[in-house]
Amino acid sequence: MRIGMLTGGGDCPGLNAVMRAVVRKGERTHGDEVIGFLDGWRGVIEGDTVPLDVEALRATLPRGGTIIGSSRTNPFKVDDGAARATATLERLGIDALVAIGGDDTLGVAQRLFEQGVHVVGVPKTIDNDLSATEMTFGFDTAVQIATEAIDRLQTTSASHQRVIVVEVMGRHAGHIAVWSGIAGGAAMILIPEEPYDIETVCAALVRRRQFGRFGTIVVVAEGAKPREGHETLLSGETDQFGHVRLGGAGEQLAHEIEARTGFETRATVLGHVQRGGTPTAYDRVLATRYGIAAIDAVHDGAFGTMMALRDGEIVRVPLTEAVDEPKLVDPALYHGVAEVFFSG
Ligand code: F6P
Repeated sequence: MRIGMLTGGGDCPGLNAVMRAVVRKGERTHGDEVIGFLDGWRGVIEGDTVPLDVEALRATLPRGGTIIGSSRTNPFKVDDGAARATATLERLGIDALVAIGGDDTLGVAQRLFEQGVHVVGVPKTIDNDLSATEMTFGFDTAVQIATEAIDRLQTTSASHQRVIVVEVMGRHAGHIAVWSGIAGGAAMILIPEEPYDIETVCAALVRRRQFGRFGTIVVVAEGAKPREGHETLLSGETDQFGHVRLGGAGEQLAHEIEARTGFETRATVLGHVQRGGTPTAYDRVLATRYGIAAIDAVHDGAFGTMMALRDGEIVRVPLTEAVDEPKLVDPALYHGVAEVFFSG
């Protein structure tokens, strides 16, 4: 078969590992030819491709990012985008397409599937907020990076008796915040799912100070908001999928904490550091399993499906499930575990 592959949306450690697995099994087991479309759906619209064979993917397993580039291009927001994309696939004789991306990329894949394109999806986002799957690759790496950062910030926070607010990614869901916050011993974790009361946050920090001299870390997801407020935006502009740019939640919170408690407070924004660099062993294995499952789905003709991790197994679910409501933090994990440590 002649198979096209693309990576769309924000990049994520493990993308190369998925592609390596698709290519290895496709080429060596089935005699497939795989080509990569550059920069997500842009490459499909414009017919911009590179050959992807076993040699092209060699030594990419530990490499972060994606060797074929990514973008947030939406064919349904570009003039004749969808028609140009399907024309490219026809012209190049593509029998099947493997789309690796989050809800936006897979939403486009679903719409193209409805138009007759043979497509299978692989879920990707460091945010781990896709409800169709229990785990997306890249999340474990992001949590590891954020936890290491918190560990470092704990010591400098303790030395200076400062509160340090750490802003992590997570626009709709606070999975990275909760996991890294629990792992790093945060004094407070604020997430989009639970709008916070600034008075309660400050009261907990004041109480904590009475117990002695140690680090005080507040982890805040970029999409967290006060009860009486809204998300903090970096810019009102939206991308082709309608997303605004979030940013500033950490700085704003640090300012409020310092003003209300008198404690010297600093903010650290981890930003794209969380998305860069080498994937953890867990993410490499998960990404490899997703890639093998995707090429198997192609050869079974299971188009219109997305690979998903359920009860430890990789299974196929309808692509439509990728764009369901985001998967939010389990309240039992937040209230039953994380919150126990907010008491000081
Ligand atoms: O991929 C998801 C994500 O990492 C979000 O957590 C974050 O808000 C967004 O991407 C940042 O996107 P960009 O790379 O366009 O700044």
